[in-house]
Amino acid sequence: MAKFKTLDDLGDVAGKVALVRVDLNLPMKDGSATDVTRVEASMPTILELADAGAKVLLLAHFGRPKGQRHSTLSTSYVQGDVSRVLGREIMFISEVAGPVVEQSISILRNGDIGLLDNVRFWPGEEANDPEFAKGIAANADFYVNDAFSAAHRAHASTEGLAHLLPAYAGRAMEKELTALDKALGNPEQPVAAVVGGAKVSTKLAVLENLVGRVQHLIIGGGMANTFLAARGVDVGKSLCEHELTATANAIMDKADHAGCTVHLPYDVVVAKEFAANPPSLRTCNVHEVAADEMILDIGPQATEALADVLKTCRTLVWNGPLGAFETEPFDTATVALARTAAALTQDGSLVSVAGGGDTVAALNHAGVAKEFTYVSTAGGAFLEWMEGKELPGVAALTC
Ligand code: 3PG
Repeated sequence: MAKFKTLDDLGDVAGKVALVRVDLNLPMKDGSATDVTRVEASMPTILELADAGAKVLLLAHFGRPKGQRHSTLSTSYVQGDVSRVLGREIMFISEVAGPVVEQSISILRNGDIGLLDNVRFWPGEEANDPEFAKGIAANADFYVNDAFSAAHRAHASTEGLAHLLPAYAGRAMEKELTALDKALGNPEQPVAAVVGGAKVSTKLAVLENLVGRVQHLIIGGGMANTFLAARGVDVGKSLCEHELTATANAIMDKADHAGCTVHLPYDVVVAKEFAANPPSLRTCNVHEVAADEMILDIGPQATEALADVLKTCRTLVWNGPLGAFETEPFDTATVALARTAAALTQDGSLVSVAGGGDTVAALNHAGVAKEFTYVSTAGGAFLEWMEGKELPGVAALTC
């Protein structure tokens, strides 16, 4: 794993201004956050610095305001949620640079926390403009990046600042990078990857990277239909990207050459309509899907066979559900395999790392998110990491 500095490398921070990049891009409903996991993840970093006497300035984006102030995208909207999670008062600061920030810092006492406004209100953020970054850096003594989920963006707050101030990985970033290294960087073999979700087209680069790095590639969700169709299976009216048949075949060939077994379901759960517990629901062999049926989940035999595969593995990386898990009973395979993975993790025989929006929701639904070795709340950043890409926000921290 590349080397980076952590909070352990900081000396005395009392009275110093810590600029902490966090991810406060929280899902909102009726003015408050519906999920504060990202704030909870950065809480150890923020409180450690505050308790050591630093003046902590939180720097974050919120939504995509595209370089303009947008009344509903101010970070002041999440101030209450952040304050509640941290159990501390927070001062909202309506700028990210300049005299307003300077004055606010003079009012903050050692150990206080300030929340800067949405850094994406300024075009210099996404342009990674060095002058813009310099303005932000001018008020701080050091920079901490605790936002892995924004590290795939080469923006001023995620990348540029790391070159202008002494830069450190926060505790959440450190934990994330360590877990990801265990999963794909330097994993215990054999490694299995579960890649599910609706479309192959959104995960092509992920699949291409994984076939060269894992021994078992388990494909689920709508994506599996495209692979089944490429193998000549008639998938009826299932979600399927028929135009990607050649691509799917090329991935399977590449897997063959790399010694990676691609697992596709041989029994499936089908229905004529997509609804909860539809009357047309049935389980069948993949070769028996009727023209008016669609595949909505992996069948019980395939699920059991996949559980057996996991039992032979030491490491698991999971992104995407195996079926249309939001609608019963098409959550069955995802829940069952997630529970198997959780049990193996708890027994100490498997390192399990999962990530991506739907995946976290699926693992929470199965009630096992806490039993995995690590669950990342990153969406795009987790996918880019699975694609084998270097993330600019991580690369900038590397020393
Ligand atoms: C996320 O919510 O995945 C991160 O905060 C990144 O947000 P972005 O896709 O708007 O850059």
